[in-house]
This record gives sequence, structure tokens and C-alpha cells, in this order.
Amino acid sequence: MRSVIGGALLFVGVSSLPALADDGKGITKPPGRAASCTPCHGLNGEGQPVRGIPRLAGLNADYFERQLASFKNGTRRNRIMLMIASDLSDDESKALASYYAGMMTPKPQTTPADRAVIAAGAELAANGDPSKDLQGCGQCHGAEGLGAGSDFPRLAGQSALYIEKMLRSWKAGDRKNDPGGVMADVANKLSDDQIKSVAAYYESLPIAAPAPTPEASKP
Ligand code: HEC
Ligand code: HEC
Repeated sequence: MRSVIGGALLFVGVSSLPALADDGKGITKPPGRAASCTPCHGLNGEGQPVRGIPRLAGLNADYFERQLASFKNGTRRNRIMLMIASDLSDDESKALASYYAGMMTPKPQTTPADRAVIAAGAELAANGDPSKDLQGCGQCHGAEGLGAGSDFPRLAGQSALYIEKMLRSWKAGDRKNDPGGVMADVANKLSDDQIKSVAAYYESLPIAAPAPTPEASKP
């Protein structure tokens, strides 16, 4: 894992020090249970893009808690996370959710996808696919993919493999915790190529809002 993160690791360590320190002035300490998440989700919630293990850093806390509940009640099917979520008390889930929500861990380094693939994904994210009556992802997930409130999770900097897996899960009915079935509706309209390109696009985005240059992501 270290080799994947490469040079970013040092920066991760430095930037996350305040989150790990406990100076008695109310600075967040990682909840005890966080140590059981790090083998998969990384020391600072950065995830493992090459294995499709999602980034948790910066996810909205309510969304995070809702996902743990979904794993438990089976509306989101995953054997590992079912076991892990079932083992957490409500208080532990809440503490972990707010811990990860406050993290601004840098993105692990990944091999960027082909520019043309990313550009096709950017187009789909911005404008959707009118021929399929599909709106742009950005209308719900935000123009920069940073998410909106507790309903619409951030996608910027998320693992492309993971995003692909989720879109296929909705198609297959393995994930059905989305309010009103909105994501199943979206996923069912996407071709395989569209899934790949939009996932690559979101992985390529920075985790924080860049200076306002709307054309910057286009080639
Ligand atoms: C053995 C590996 C493993 C461990 C340990 C693990 N996870 Fe996960 N986690 C996963 C995988 C794989 C997924 C993607 C599940 C899917 O396909 O739906 C996931 C998904 C999640 C999600 C959903 C993220 C999203 O964007 O919707 C949350 C939240 C989460 N894990 C929290 C935790 C917490 C909190 C812990 C520790 C208490 C933990 N995980 C430990 C492997 C793991
Ligand atoms: C009408 C609103 C809407 C549109 C349009 C939309 N989404 Fe979503 N999306 C949602 C909601 C709501 C959720 C959260 C579902 C839940 O609570 O589990 C979500 C969740 C997701 C997730 C799961 C993130 C995670 O961390 O697990 C992915 C991936 C995703 N959307 C991708 C897309 C892509 C790609 C598009 C465009 C092709 C898109 N969405 C368009 C509403 C939307």
C-alpha cells in the first residue's frame, strides 16, 4: 500500500497530525475502533484505489452512518462490511462518521486514465445523456463532484474502480438504499463505456474545490 501512496504519505502524516493529537483542548482523537478500519481504508481514510476500496475521508457524516446502517439491514450487500458494521454500536458508528468526515487526507497517487476517457466522463457528468433522458451527475453531486448535504455523497477523488463497482451494484440490485431509487435509475441507463469514463473522471478530480475555472477540466 505504501508504494501506491508514494510521496503523498509524508504529507498525509503531517497534515493529519492535528486529528491524531489529543492536547486536551477538544481536538478530535481517532475513535478506538478506527484502528480496525485502517487495514482496508488506509491510515487516514484515503482508501485503496487499486483495490477499489473506497475513500472515507471527507464523506458526509450522516451519509456515512446511513451506509453502515444499510450494510446491517441488507439494503447494501457486502459480506465484509456487513460483519464490520454489525459489530459497531450506534455510538461507535457516529464517532467514526464524524472522525472521517473531518479528514482532508490527500488523494493517493493513481495512474491517470486516458485523457479522452476522462473528457467523455466530464461531459456525461456535466450534461448527462439527453438521448437516454439522463441528467448530469453534477446536478445532484455538485459541479465539482464535492457532494451536497447528507443526501448526495462526494465523488471527487473517489476510487474509479469503486465507483464502477457501485454503478454495477445498482444495476444488479445489490445496492438499493438510495432514496426513491434515483441511483438505480441512473445506473440502468449507463453503458459499460459510460460507467468507465464517468468513474475515471471523478477519480481524476481534486478533493477540494479548485479556483473557479469551469473550463479547466476540459482538454
Ligand atoms: C477487510 C476490509 C475492510 C475493513 C476492515 C473495513 N472496510 Fe469498510 N469497506 C470495505 C469495502 C470493500 C467497501 C465497499 C463495499 C461495497 O462494495 O459496497 C467498504 C465500504 C465502506 C463504507 C461505504 C463508503 C461509501 O462511500 O459509501 C463505509 C462507510 C465503511 N466501509 C466504513 C468502514 C469502517 C468505519 C470500518 C472500521 C470499523 C471499515 N469500513 C472497515 C472494506 C473494509
Ligand atoms: C437525481 C440525483 C442524482 C443523480 C442525477 C446522480 N446521482 Fe449518484 N447518488 C445520488 C444519491 C441520492 C446517492 C446516495 C445514495 C445513498 O444514500 O446510498 C448517490 C450515490 C452515488 C454513488 C455512491 C457513492 C459512494 O460513496 O458510495 C455513486 C458512485 C454515484 N452516485 C454516481 C453517480 C454518477 C456517476 C452519476 C451520473 C451518471 C450520478 N451518480 C447521478 C443521486 C444522484
